[in-house]
Order: sequence, then structure tokens, then C-alpha cells
Amino acid sequence: MFNLANSHRSIRAYTSENVDDELLNELLMTGLRSSSSGNMQTWSVIVTRDEAKKQKLYEAHYEQPMVLQAPLVLTFCSDVFRMREWIRVNESKQSFDDFLGFLTGAVDAVIAAQTICLAAESQGLGICYMGTTWWSADDIIEILGLPKGVFPVTSIVLGHPAEDPPLRDRLPLELLVHQEQYQILPDAEIKAAHAAREESAWARYNANEELREALAEAGITKVTDFYTSEFKYSKELHQRVSEMLVQTLQKQGLWL
Ligand SMILES: Cc1cc2nc3c(=O)[nH]c(=O)nc-3n(C[C@H](O)[C@H](O)[C@H](O)COP(=O)(O)O)c2cc1C
Repeated sequence: MFNLANSHRSIRAYTSENVDDELLNELLMTGLRSSSSGNMQTWSVIVTRDEAKKQKLYEAHYEQPMVLQAPLVLTFCSDVFRMREWIRVNESKQSFDDFLGFLTGAVDAVIAAQTICLAAESQGLGICYMGTTWWSADDIIEILGLPKGVFPVTSIVLGHPAEDPPLRDRLPLELLVHQEQYQILPDAEIKAAHAAREESAWARYNANEELREALAEAGITKVTDFYTSEFKYSKELHQRVSEMLVQTLQKQGLWL
């Protein structure tokens, strides 16, 4: 288990080889075993194999080539619809159509997704999560026909790797782990703790010639500039997506 988890890499290039139904079913059954709030399992997953559907998801996922390459896209959803349907047919008192219901299902969904990812990797398959699930949540709801109470929280591509990338670096453990109480670092320690990441990430982004030129032209000189620039996660993007998410949560009956 340690070896498996410590050798994780996101895979962004896939062969055309299929993932057979039996293996997929075994992976999904393993996901089913995940912890969930109250054992209600308020998550669901949409399996996409169909090429026409994948084309639509490809567009929703900002044209990331791995969506078309990988044989499978799995969209994990927070799902209080199913629980509410059960309550409805039993004529019990309704609940869960609120932000807490959404959050409960979102955590359940992500836990199940990660269980499936590890199981898939243990079988030599590759995975990559897609944050574009949030950026296009409204379109994905449309494409996958998600009813009220269901909201996409994360997606993965799944398939046979066509690349063998190196391990990506991680921030020092001490930055993420606090003993008993949260520690706020002084500026000098913040700088020191991020120095290796600044160097590695900057080198990686600049290895792409097109991006290197664009960064130079935009006057971006360090990795933190890059993270919040129009090339990555700008404030404008965050504002626009955040507003869309609140509206879409409202539309799906999952706001206050
Ligand atoms: C929630 C989430 C969203 C992500 N979104 C994307 C994405 O849209 N495209 C992509 O290529 N990688 C995406 N990734 C993969 C990360 O870039 C990757 O996990 C990170 O750079 C560390 O690399 P590693 O997974 O190879 O160790 C995402 C990862 C997570 C957990």
C-alpha cells in the first residue's frame, strides 16, 4: 500500500486499449466499500465510454486531450437525489436539499473516487483528476442529465498509460502538518519552505517554449505570479466560476 501510494503520478497520455468491463466493475465495487457519511453513500458516478459523449465532455473539460484519448471518463457526483427519492417513496420527512447535503455528498464522492484511483493504479492503469469539472459544472450537468440534487464534484480519466512520467515533487511535510495547533509561519520561513517548489515548478513551466515566451511577454517572473495569472488560476476565473457554482447549486436545489 505504501509503495502504491508513494508511486502515484497523474497520467495524461493513454493508449487506445480498452479497460474491460469486468475490471471496471471490480474497481467500482471497491469504490462502493469506501466510508461514507451515515453509510448513506450520497454519491454516484457516471461512466462515459461513448465517443460522442466524450467529445462533449472534452469540450467541457477545456479540450484536455486525455479526455478523448483515455477509454473512460468517470464523473463523480454529490448525490442527494437518490436518498431523497428513497425518502419520498417511503413517505418519510424530507431533508438534504441544502448546502450541507451537497457537502456531505461531495466528501463521500471524493473518498470513493480516490479509492477507485488507488485500485486502478494497483492494476497498472493510469488516472488523472480534472478540476475543470468545477469550471464547467453547469455544462456537465446538462451533458450527463444530472437531476436536481446531483452535482459533479470531480472527474477522472482512466486507461492504460502511454507515458511514464517522473514523480512530481511535494511541499515539505511540516508545511501541511501541524502538531496540536495551527502554526503560522514568519515570512522568512515561508520563503525557505517554498524555495525548492519555486525552482522546480518554474523550471517545469519554462521547459515549454511557447509558455516560456508567453510568460516573458506578460512580465511573469516567478511561479506565484503564474498561479494567479490568466494562464492558470486568475482571480477573474475564480470569481466567474464561483458565481456560476453558486447559481448552479441553487438550480440543483443544493444551496441554503
Ligand atoms: C482536484 C484535482 C484537479 C485536477 N485537475 C487537473 C486538470 O484539470 N488537468 C490536469 O492535467 N491535471 C489535473 N490534476 C492533476 C494535478 O495537476 C496533479 O495531481 C498534481 O500536479 C500533482 O502531480 P501528480 O498527481 O502526478 O503527483 C488535478 C488534480 C486534482 C486533485
